[in-house]
Formats: sequence, structure tokens, C-alpha cells
Amino acid sequence: MEAAAQRRIPRFAWDYMAGGIGRESVLAENCARLDRVKLRPRYLVDDAESPDLSHSLLGTRYPAPFGVAPLGLSGLIWPQAAEHLARAARAEGISFALSGMATSSIEQIGAIGGKIWYQHYAFIDNDINSDLLKRAQHSGFDTLVVTVDIPTSTRRDRDIRNGLAVPPDLNLRTLLGIVQRPAWALSMLRHGVPEFASIKPYLPANLSLAQLGVQLSEMIEGHVSRDKLRWYRAQWPGNLIVKGILDADDAAACVDIGADAIVVSNHGGRQLDAAQTSIDALPAIRQAVGHDYPLLADGGIRNGLDIARYLALGADYVLLGRAFMFALGAIGDNGGAHAITILQAELAATLGQLGCPSIRHLPEFLIKE
Ligand SMILES: Cc1cc2nc3c(=O)[nH]c(=O)nc-3n(C[C@H](O)[C@H](O)[C@H](O)COP(=O)(O)O)c2cc1C
Repeated sequence: MEAAAQRRIPRFAWDYMAGGIGRESVLAENCARLDRVKLRPRYLVDDAESPDLSHSLLGTRYPAPFGVAPLGLSGLIWPQAAEHLARAARAEGISFALSGMATSSIEQIGAIGGKIWYQHYAFIDNDINSDLLKRAQHSGFDTLVVTVDIPTSTRRDRDIRNGLAVPPDLNLRTLLGIVQRPAWALSMLRHGVPEFASIKPYLPANLSLAQLGVQLSEMIEGHVSRDKLRWYRAQWPGNLIVKGILDADDAAACVDIGADAIVVSNHGGRQLDAAQTSIDALPAIRQAVGHDYPLLADGGIRNGLDIARYLALGADYVLLGRAFMFALGAIGDNGGAHAITILQAELAATLGQLGCPSIRHLPEFLIKE
């Protein structure tokens, strides 16, 4: 699906989605590191049943231990991506996290419903933060995900070359790339130019793309302080998840502040090209937060076996970003549903192959390095 998606998505949008920061060593390592996680099958089991994939996370029962990661600007990669993925997630009962920088609004995704989480980037102005949280709550989001791993504006070489940087500058190569991808271009024409749908009301009207970029970088908080996290905890009555943790002390601070869960993540290799993989960060973080604290993780997951690997290493639940976008790009609007079905089937097959009765038992099958 990755190869098919690349043929259907214009180069600048593909580069934004598939690419990473710097020399993209963390991007590559996220997958390579997963490949090195080995599991030991046990074939001589007496009462093999069909394995149980379901999992309870923060009071909700999910049919499988994975969900859709928040993806900013997803409507640029594939028209109305967030809506299509949210509908697929609702149909299958899995979680969908709406990015605060998505091109579909809180209200649009709220109207679709399902197990929806709202991912928030902290604004400096707490009136804006309060308003966004209220809108999310009123629209039926029960979980707030605060992402903390964007302390500075991000410089990705591919985006700069393609003119997707701040200020954006769509060049001739970019425009030619669009013309060569007719399915994408026609769909985009039908649905209109994507915009930051949720945060639009807080931005001055009629800004050029260049001005919008500058404006946003002035409005978004860089480092999210512990105080700011306490503020979110006090404001948000539902579940609070902190996303983008790689350090055990940071993880312990989230627990102290009253966060209900954390996502161990290097943002899919998009922020710091010397970051640890989530796999390598997990053991120390697990030790810091204790055995029963809900730990989510992401990065590099491309199939059901990868989900099993993360769970074997101690994650309770995982998120997938690019895998879902590859499916949308390859198949179109129904790609999300197809991806969920394949991932569930692959995860079940992995447990069957291992002789593992349920996802809770996966750590017993890990071959320690
Ligand atoms: C195109 C793209 C946009 C993203 N936008 C956001 C975002 O708005 N908020 C966020 O918390 N994470 C964002 N992420 C990170 C993902 O939520 C997730 O951590 C990452 O994609 C996991 O790695 P994977 O793509 O290998 O599955 C983005 C990732 C991609 C690929």
C-alpha cells in the first residue's frame, strides 16, 4: 500500500507525510529496531483457542489494542483523510485521535462520533486553549491528548525544498507534481483547499499562507511546562494523555501531574534525528511509571506483528500514523477500514503462530536481548 500510495499522492504531500527530520535516521531506525524484536513461538499447546485481542484502556473496551494516531494536515495528503479515518474507526470500534492541526474540525469529527480523542497543541493564550477544550468536550471527545514534543518549529529538509516550509512557497516542481496525480487533484478540487479547520476562528481572516505560518508560530506555545500540564489537568474532566515522552523523569512527572496515560513517541522520526526509538525508551519509562500505569507507544508500526512486538515489550496500546495514510492513499476513501481489518487479522495470526492466548500474555513470548 505504501508503494501504491506514493504513486497517487503528489510529491510534496508524500514527502511531508512519509519523510522525517534530518538525515531521517530515526525514521529508518523506528522500523529497523522493530525488526530486531524477536518472539519465541510455543507450538505444543494443549487448548489453543482463537486469541483475544480486546483491551480496556481508560475505562473503554477496544476490540484491538491499536488506534489512529493524530495526523496534522492530513487533508493535504488525502482529501478529507480525517473524516474517512474517523468513520472507519467508528465502524470498527477503534480509537481515532483528531490532530489539533487537522484539516477537519472538532465539530465535524464530533458529528461522526465513535471513540474519538482530541489532540491539542498548546496555545500561549489560555482563552484559546479553554475554548478548544470546551468545543472538544461539547462535541463528544472524552480523551484529551496533549502533545509535548514540538518545543521549536520544525525544519524538515524535504518540506523546505518543496516550499512547504514557513513561509510556504509552492514552486513549479510542486505544481507539476500535482498535475501528475489526477485522482488526488480531482478529489482536492471537489473538496476545496484544506485549511486548519479547528483553529481557524482564532486566526485573523484573509491571511496569505506565508502570513498564516508566521502567525501560528507566534501563537503556539513552545515548551509545554509542567505548570501548563497541571492547567490542562484542572480544565479537562475526561482522560488526559501526554504524547511525545521519551524520558523516564518526564514520564514520572506526567504521573505526578495526574495524567491518565502517556504516549512514548519520537513523533514518527519527525522532530529530533538523534532521538531514541520508543522501543528503546520503553523499559526505563515502564520502570518509572510502575506496572499498572497505561503506557501507549508509537513509531514504525506497519503490520500486526509490529503491534505484537510493542505489546511484548510492555506497551499497553499503540498508535499508527503513516500506515493509515498509506492505506488511504493506496485505496482511497475505504483505505482506513481495509487497514484496520488487515491489522486485526495479522495480529490474530501472530498470536496464533506464537501459541499466545491473549494480548496480555505477549510479554511472556519476548526473547530478551
Ligand atoms: C503527516 C504526519 C502528521 C503528524 N501530525 C501530528 C500532529 O498533528 N500531532 C501529533 O501529536 N502527532 C503528529 N504526528 C505524529 C503521529 O501522531 C505519530 O506519533 C507517528 O506518526 C507515529 O509513527 P508512524 O507514522 O511510523 O506510525 C504526525 C505524523 C505524521 C506522519
